[in-house]
Amino acid sequence: MGKLWGGRFTKQTNHLVDEYTASIGFDQALAEEDIQGSLAHVTMLGKCGIVPQEDVETIKAGLQTVLDKIRRGEIEFSVVDEDIHMNVEKNLIAEIGPVGGKLHTGRSRNDQVATDMHLYLRKRVVELAGMLHELQKSLIGQARDNLDTIIPGYTHLQRAQPILFAHHLMAYVSMFQRDIERLMDSYKRINVLPLGAGALAGTTFPIDRHFVAEQLQFDRVYENSLDAVSDRDFIVEFLSHASIIMMHLSRLSEELVLWSSTEFNFIELDDAFCTGSSIMPQKKNPDVPELVRGKTGRVYGNLMGLLTVLKSLPLAYNKDMQEDKEGMFDTVATLEGALQLFAPMIATMKVNKSRMREAVNQDFSNATDIADFLVGKGLPFRQAHEVIGKTVLYCIQQGKYLLDLTMEEFQQFSPLFDDTIYEVLRPETVVNARNVYGGTATDQVAEAIKRGEVLLSMTEQWLAEHV
Ligand code: ARG
Repeated sequence: MGKLWGGRFTKQTNHLVDEYTASIGFDQALAEEDIQGSLAHVTMLGKCGIVPQEDVETIKAGLQTVLDKIRRGEIEFSVVDEDIHMNVEKNLIAEIGPVGGKLHTGRSRNDQVATDMHLYLRKRVVELAGMLHELQKSLIGQARDNLDTIIPGYTHLQRAQPILFAHHLMAYVSMFQRDIERLMDSYKRINVLPLGAGALAGTTFPIDRHFVAEQLQFDRVYENSLDAVSDRDFIVEFLSHASIIMMHLSRLSEELVLWSSTEFNFIELDDAFCTGSSIMPQKKNPDVPELVRGKTGRVYGNLMGLLTVLKSLPLAYNKDMQEDKEGMFDTVATLEGALQLFAPMIATMKVNKSRMREAVNQDFSNATDIADFLVGKGLPFRQAHEVIGKTVLYCIQQGKYLLDLTMEEFQQFSPLFDDTIYEVLRPETVVNARNVYGGTATDQVAEAIKRGEVLLSMTEQWLAEHV
């Protein structure tokens, strides 16, 4: 058999054109979705009396056979048949004969490919929300174990104020929660059926789009046939959400890399998640977070790529749009690869509590609290800030920390100091003084963990409803 669209042509396609225009090399990843969509379509053709029921049954059985063969790797895809849609149809006709040619009644590859993409991404979005949820579980687990672990909190990567390590981890839980919610929200716009739009204008056959939507469990059908086949917003949106997820993972990666350096020595990633050096025997490298940080670039690139493909494209389908796929597949694989490793890597990470404690004892991150102490004694904050600035400078010159100062030394800077200052300056006191909703006090972080657990169960429920 020649090309499915060969009738109008008098010459063979140049083989380089076949190679260049074919998408089968990558869109074979849509085989399951393509056949799922075709099964619903042909069922509808039968129900609407467009194709005789007997033929519908033959086509359905044939599609099932083709699917089984694809799953067993028994089908050799060909660039001559361009894409997954025509490869499947070709194989169907080879399987059941010319009656297979009735499948494409009332449909175009334009609404077919869009349907495949919607089916594909719908599944992936649920998968990814589930993986982010696993990562949140690991983070919350570590937070529970580190409710008494104090680290310096940083701004400008300079020690700022002591915080609970659990508080730091819970910040990421919040970030990944927004990511999950963005994916959940995007599901509404993904779960819309384009099929029935035909090539661009609809179809002359008395089809039932809502019946197909119901069978494929789409919430709605596209309102406008041109929009149905031209819309790739749902992929742009996915790539954009994916970019934010990677940005979050990359920020966490950067911290893991810093924290596992000898200079910080705050954590140790499990051996199973690190690699060595081929020359330096002492090395244990945090390759996974480094690579996740690096792979963030390609995900941003995929977003920019598709935005650029779509810019200025006239309605409706243009071949340019075939370029929507590789970036999307690559993004899904990149995200899944990263998330799959991150959840266990965080869960197994060793936290060096004594080193963190040492870091907190050897810094000035309690300086704000001693200023607040003077404010409590009636000194205006600006003046207190100045006094403590001088006190810190004195400490630096003397090679001391605030807690090392004698009462005599304190009183050189302000007569308002008294013995209670030593309690005020203890890291535990400093942390627990921030007893405000969302703050780092132990009670507040314990509450945050409880709220995090509620979010976990909400996501679990959503996942169960969207399998
Ligand atoms: N392989 C094509 C794509 O991925 C399928 C749609 C082709 N439609 C067309 N009229 N050539 O975009």
